[in-house]
Amino acid sequence: MTDLTSLILDRIRDVPDYPQPGVLFKDITPLLADPVAFAAVVDALAGTYRVDKIVGIEARGFILAAPVAHRAGAGFVPVRKKGKLPSETLEASYDLEYGSATIEVHRDAFHPGERVLIVDDVLATGGTAQAAVELVRRAGADVVAIAVLMELGFLKGRDRLVDVEVHSLVVV
Ligand code: PRP
Repeated sequence: MTDLTSLILDRIRDVPDYPQPGVLFKDITPLLADPVAFAAVVDALAGTYRVDKIVGIEARGFILAAPVAHRAGAGFVPVRKKGKLPSETLEASYDLEYGSATIEVHRDAFHPGERVLIVDDVLATGGTAQAAVELVRRAGADVVAIAVLMELGFLKGRDRLVDVEVHSLVVV
């Protein structure tokens, strides 16, 4: 196990039966509260990518994506749940591990051909990431990769993301 892997795994708390019975929730708040671990995760997510924009996915994705944008010298673009963005949007719907949702991005969030890294905390079924990729592409930009803190390997979200690089810091 690498130093980064143990730094992350030691600071993720398993919460049984949240938000509903049978779900084991991965709580990243202990990791975020540790300045050394938080900084290491932001550096690792930023990687060596050369991109114009970092897309963060509401809500927990914002916490990681904004400092990654700062670290990468890139702009930040929010992908939000339906009804939260004020100007004209594109939207995509998807199934979640529990329930379903619609996410949106501002139609004019990117210049044509801009290079984009999508950042989120967790890749579970891959529905959210797949919808975010679709939104970025429909808005005219290129998805360079998706970077996540944690991949829930048993849900096989990676298999839905066949035409995009997926970079996960830990797989559980
Ligand atoms: C969680 C997580 C990812 C998504 C992953 O967000 O932050 O965005 O689910 O699931 P998937 O791969 O099965 O689509 P959630 O929708 O719970 O929103 P939150 O960050 O606002 O809690």
